[in-house]
Amino acid sequence: MWQSALFLLASWAIQPAIGLQQEPLAEISANKKHLLLGDDLIAFHKNLTQIESITYHEQEAGKWLAKSLSSQGYTVEKQYIDDDSGRFNVFAYLGKKRETDILVSSHYDTVPPFYPYYHKNKTIGGRGSVDDKASLAAQLIAVNTLITTKKLHANDISLLFVVGEETGGDGMRLANDLHLTPKTIVFGEPTEAKLVAGHKGNDALTIKAKGKAAHSGYPWLGRSANEVLVAALAAVIELGPHLPRSEKYGATTVNIGKIEGGVAGNVVAESAAATIAIRIAAGDADEVEREITKAVHMAVRSFLEEGMRPEDVVELQFSARGYGPIDIDADVPGFDVMTVNYGTDIPWLKKTVGGQKRYLYGPGSIMVAHSDHEALTEEELFGAVEDYQKIILHAFKAGQ
Ligand SMILES: *[C@@H]1O[C@H](CO)[C@@H](O)[C@H](O)[C@H]1NC(C)=O
Ligand SMILES: *[C@@H]1O[C@H](CO)[C@@H](O)[C@H](O)[C@H]1NC(C)=O
Ligand SMILES: [Zn+2]
Repeated sequence: MWQSALFLLASWAIQPAIGLQQEPLAEISANKKHLLLGDDLIAFHKNLTQIESITYHEQEAGKWLAKSLSSQGYTVEKQYIDDDSGRFNVFAYLGKKRETDILVSSHYDTVPPFYPYYHKNKTIGGRGSVDDKASLAAQLIAVNTLITTKKLHANDISLLFVVGEETGGDGMRLANDLHLTPKTIVFGEPTEAKLVAGHKGNDALTIKAKGKAAHSGYPWLGRSANEVLVAALAAVIELGPHLPRSEKYGATTVNIGKIEGGVAGNVVAESAAATIAIRIAAGDADEVEREITKAVHMAVRSFLEEGMRPEDVVELQFSARGYGPIDIDADVPGFDVMTVNYGTDIPWLKKTVGGQKRYLYGPGSIMVAHSDHEALTEEELFGAVEDYQKIILHAFKAGQ
């Protein structure tokens, strides 16, 4: 972990400072009231980041965002999540065409807790300042700039800003119902201004051990769920290094993040459970699930009484949404390329077009994204506007 952090810091330090030297964007289109450019990038990002939008509480930010886009001349569709919460995805386009060839997307929910916005010494911080409102703001300004400078036509491109990314992607999964048909999608997440060539897959597992309570003086009358769980977890740990690996993503990793079991030292535990996160480096989730199930079932054999099956003492609940590694396009010249170990919304948006291209890029670092010191520099934010334009234009030219 620290090795890759050092590597990221080193490559960050040598990145050219392109952002601040660009022509002041406001001058290009001072008379286009429907577009927000130049200094407006900082103001738009500030206004959006100041609104708390922790997942399940995105309503206020969504309303502000929809209003801002409408006032810039966008046609805005609010796509409500089906749960009475009033949360919605924001889909917007500027031209006459709704199904555009290029779609630009990021999320506007954040993780908890909320930290207030600040802007000091060319550094901008607060919850969501990086993840993902920096990407969102830079994407919007990039699109506005491309249209204002006539490098793209309004009918070429649309925007999709979703809720719920941080807790399983309910926003992006719903976005499939918009029936969009983009040839290219540009996703925004903090990538240190690099293009991401793919990310590991994800799965989650809860192991529930089932025991039989008894007095601790007569443990043979019971079955300790804690002992069953320990045996099961030992098997998972031992299996870890043998799970599928690949050159591109490295090893599949397993994190036993939470354990609980029993009620007191003098009672044989009746129940115990552990929660595990799995980052999949090769193959698919089914394969990893099969291997773990086999290893755990073997490991608990000694607890089985006559006629019992492994399922009678241990229950394995895998996520219904496990998936293998996600390959992403990274063929835009002039960018550093890396892979990442975090999940995104990308697997949830179904491909509706053959040969569809998907890119992942964003300003700021994932290392600070969910921390109490989430922040990025002005320069990174401005640089991202320029980089998004490069990525979008590359996709546009390739699609001609
Ligand atoms: C940001 O909010 C302020 C205060 O409401 C408003 O005056 C300004 O126009 C907004 N700017 C942008 C770019 O949203
Ligand atoms: C301002 O930021 C720069 C680099 O980002 C840092 O070197 C400098 O110490 C900061 N100054 C203050 C007063 O915080
Ligand atoms: Zn994010």
